[in-house]
Amino acid sequence: MNTRFLNPNEEGIDIASKIIQKNGTVAFPTETVYGLGANALSKKAIKKIFKAKGRPQDNPLIVHIATIDSLFKITKKISPKAKKLIDNFWPGPLTIILKKNKKIPSIVTAGLDSVAVRMPKNKVALNLIKKSKRPIAAPSANTSTKPSPTKAKHVIDDLNNKIDAIIKGQDANVGLESTVIDMTTKTPTILRPGKITKEKIEKIIGKVNIKTSSGKEAKSPGMKYKHYSPNAKVIIAPKNKFKEIKIKNKDKKIGIIKKGISKKRFAKKMFSKFRDLDKKGCEIILVEKIKENGLGLAIMNRLKKAASEIILN
Ligand code: TXA
Ligand code: MG
Repeated sequence: MNTRFLNPNEEGIDIASKIIQKNGTVAFPTETVYGLGANALSKKAIKKIFKAKGRPQDNPLIVHIATIDSLFKITKKISPKAKKLIDNFWPGPLTIILKKNKKIPSIVTAGLDSVAVRMPKNKVALNLIKKSKRPIAAPSANTSTKPSPTKAKHVIDDLNNKIDAIIKGQDANVGLESTVIDMTTKTPTILRPGKITKEKIEKIIGKVNIKTSSGKEAKSPGMKYKHYSPNAKVIIAPKNKFKEIKIKNKDKKIGIIKKGISKKRFAKKMFSKFRDLDKKGCEIILVEKIKENGLGLAIMNRLKKAASEIILN
């Protein structure tokens, strides 16, 4: 398959929307990471996403919409709390899990009776969804288990000639995937932390639980798999342990990622750094431990999934 490279302008989005309507696959920019999109109402289209990514079939996809109207078409009922989240955080990096209706084929939700929905905050993405006139299911546009793509170049590295088109837009601004919150449980439950933090959500709807455990019991099926991993072995450690680790591995090429100035910047660059250090042939990537509050919780969640060794103090 020859992948078409499209510009993020009217013409490019037009071509892309026609590909979506014909049940093809298009990678597109969002504010969090690049997504690999296909018509959420077509089983045939969705199969292509799983195939291109090498994604396990039991890991459900997020459905992307551009207007609230389309939400009513794919979900059953929207609770007052879910409505509040929508009013406050959409468009933006928050994915909300709601009861699905029959319109969404079960391949999208891996057989679950709920569906994850998000309205992205990116003009290209929103235009693409509008022009396609369909909700677009999209996981991150990387090969399964690899770090999520924050630049068009990352998508090309992973999926060139495996998908129909790539819209070459801006680099992702957030750099981490959306927060996922399950609104079908009695107390709302965060299944994946992200830029919209627990603190911000609780200000709007009151108490929420956090359940980001990996392993077999994970509620969000995607969280049980090895994730976000560069080829290099990732070690998380506090800075005062760096010297000792370097001495222990003095025969190996080590790449280093330090905490730096702000969590926001760290989040934006993290996955990209993983890919760069892999390309440089690093065998170990040593990452400085970050405090697990605010955005730090999301950063450490991704780092821990990528790491083979975690030294906490
Ligand atoms: O920022 C993002 O969310 C990006 C961009 C492209 O929008 N997308 C993304 O998709 O990260 P993906 O497929 O890489 O991650 C989706 C996560 C997985 O952990 C999946 O298991 C979970 O959401 N998920 C999807 N539907 C679910 C459902 N009905 N119940 C529980 N978890 C669900
Ligand atoms: Mg992903």
